[in-house]
Amino acid sequence: MSTAVPKMPLPVHIPDREPIDPTLDLEAEIVRLKEERNAIILSHYYQDGEMQDIADFVGDSLGLSQQAKGTDADVIAFCGVHFMAETAKILNMGKTVVMPDTDAGCSLADRCPPDVFAEWLEQYPDHVVVSYINTSAAIKALSDIICTSTNAVRVVESIPEDKKIVFAPDRHLGRWVMRQTGRDMVLWPGFCVVHEQFTARKLLKLKRQYPDAHLIAHPECEQSVLDMADYIGSTNQLINYVVKTTDVGEFIVATEMGVMHQMRKQRPGVKVIGAEPDSGCECAVCPYMRLNTMEKLYLALRDLQPEITVPQDIAERALLPVERMLALG
Ligand code: 13P
Ligand code: SF4
Repeated sequence: MSTAVPKMPLPVHIPDREPIDPTLDLEAEIVRLKEERNAIILSHYYQDGEMQDIADFVGDSLGLSQQAKGTDADVIAFCGVHFMAETAKILNMGKTVVMPDTDAGCSLADRCPPDVFAEWLEQYPDHVVVSYINTSAAIKALSDIICTSTNAVRVVESIPEDKKIVFAPDRHLGRWVMRQTGRDMVLWPGFCVVHEQFTARKLLKLKRQYPDAHLIAHPECEQSVLDMADYIGSTNQLINYVVKTTDVGEFIVATEMGVMHQMRKQRPGVKVIGAEPDSGCECAVCPYMRLNTMEKLYLALRDLQPEITVPQDIAERALLPVERMLALG
């Protein structure tokens, strides 16, 4: 029997930063540094409540991209996952974009490697390539147009009927868009590790427990879950649905639990019940988003590190499909 130790890549040396004084008023320091740096803090709805509350803008992937495009700040501090901050950088190559933790990736983006994607695309040379914003800059550079869950239907409907379409990387969102538009599309077989954990079986139990509640779901959920939903939409659309559907008092929410912070904030007294994932956890959290903390946001603004960088040639190629999406709104 061989006793050879399998070869592992050497760990990258990341120098330790000094510990933060736990008595420091982090909120006040973040606000002070933000002004000193002429920075804007952008936060996704899946971030912890205190990170949403300190942000200048909190939104979904589309809203965050629109804000990033329009900002005159010198620094963008992005509380979200890597592809979101990278999109902000593509739109602002002259600005500094920092993230609390650059390890905050995304299962969809990580499972769509550009070399494999490029090879896969060779089978579909005459197809329009529509990529979800949850992709790396290199995938965006290989795409014709980007979409988010808010505008995916609009983006696909903008493509002439006689054109064939490839959609990547979320197969559930892709299938849902096919059903909304009646368009056939070739789907990359990606999925989100958070949304795939909701099951129709568990949701049925919750629906029995709360018979008056509306079930609302993100289109990254499996079709069996979407088939049960009273409403399907992006994070922003789900929040708006809860705020505007005032004749309903209870909602079962099948997406990451961070959205419930805004639902409760914008409609005090509403009962929002987080759908339980099938993992044994009681609530659905995106493990990547939750790598960002207030401490790391403070350090990012203080040190302007870790910074998001995108090679110039990739950024230039990725910008066009992102701009095409933003033009559609
Ligand atoms: P939204 O664009 O709806 O905010 O979704 C982003 C996301 O990562 C969903 O998992
Ligand atoms: Fe990616 Fe899923 Fe997290 Fe959204 S919830 S950022 S799709 S891993």
